[in-house]
Amino acid sequence: MKIIKTQVGIIGAGPAGLTLAHWLKKQGISSVIIENRSRAYIEARVRAGLLEQNTVDILDSLGLADRLKKEGQEHHGVYLNFDGERIRVPFGELTGGRNITIYGQQEVVKDLTDAWFAGGGELFFEATATKINDFETDHPTIHFEYQGENAILECDFVAACDGFHGLGRKTMPKESYNEFTVTYPFSWLGILAHVAPSSEELIYAYHERGFALSSQRSEKVSRLYVQCDNDDTVENWSDEKIWDELSIRLGTPGWELKRGPIFEKSITPMRSYFIDNMQCGRLFLAGDAAHIVPPTGGKGLNLAVADVKHLVDGLTEFYQKGSLNALDSYSKTALKRIWRAQDFSNFMTTLFHKQEEHGSFTYQLQKAKFDYIKCSEAYATTIAENYVGLPFEAFE
Ligand code: DHB
Repeated sequence: MKIIKTQVGIIGAGPAGLTLAHWLKKQGISSVIIENRSRAYIEARVRAGLLEQNTVDILDSLGLADRLKKEGQEHHGVYLNFDGERIRVPFGELTGGRNITIYGQQEVVKDLTDAWFAGGGELFFEATATKINDFETDHPTIHFEYQGENAILECDFVAACDGFHGLGRKTMPKESYNEFTVTYPFSWLGILAHVAPSSEELIYAYHERGFALSSQRSEKVSRLYVQCDNDDTVENWSDEKIWDELSIRLGTPGWELKRGPIFEKSITPMRSYFIDNMQCGRLFLAGDAAHIVPPTGGKGLNLAVADVKHLVDGLTEFYQKGSLNALDSYSKTALKRIWRAQDFSNFMTTLFHKQEEHGSFTYQLQKAKFDYIKCSEAYATTIAENYVGLPFEAFE
């Protein structure tokens, strides 16, 4: 049987697992990653593409932002539409110069995977973790299957960055956490299209026909979303119907949506989920393994990278000073930001989605919020600072 030894065993080669591996390496801590899927799959998996200032700064400090800086698009504000009226929330002046960058998650994954291999890192693709043992001791093991054989990763700590359906959370004893779930009564149909973006910045829109979002991936590729029903299928949405619906929902006088060939269509359900403890002994959860936010506001990847920061702080303290104190407060530290992001994602979701009849009480509250953003710099600042992501010091 293949037996591998490392300091930190990482399950999952998504943004959380890969960022963790790189950052640990910079701190002189070894790690090995095992990933269930193939390299082609994780590099092609289409996800959101909004990077907060913190995330860009972290990737930059790890020397992983060369392509991101070249090909990513820094945005200094965001447009918000309500019933065909458009306002802009500027980031720079409201947040002291913090911004967001649009760069697809799978591009981040590609960059981090390439750099990991280029630096001689170990990462096993199509390796299925089957059991995490002895995580209540100082010598946990991850058992996995690789190329038809059983293998063991012996380590000091296990970082489960293995997503919502991963082994990490399933391994945590049920009595060690409380879980919180909200399912929203709508989903998103997302498309990628070969067409220049119709707006230089993102547009989030409430319309009586439902939510729409205009985003982008490059000067030639647009990324757009429309609110659809939870039981909807992509087959219900012809290209023409998608463009018609987007044009109506995003429309404002004097503005036109550019259309082009659609090359990707998928439906994303909307859910808030989290558990209130992300550690059991030497097993730590990071990213989607511990929490899911609805996509409105693009917080998912950024929360995963923020978890990694706290985990690296704790692991560094352990390997440099022998103290488990920072690691033992990992959950508490990470959860402050997670709760904030849950609240903000829920706020953005309920503000812009059609929930009840147009003109209902809920609608009036949505409209009151939009009108308040227009007239109050304080309210606009609240949105801007959450959108670009609060600095780490804010939660200390
Ligand atoms: C994108 C996704 C989001 O959920 C969001 O709020 C903004 C942008 C995107 O995929 O570009």
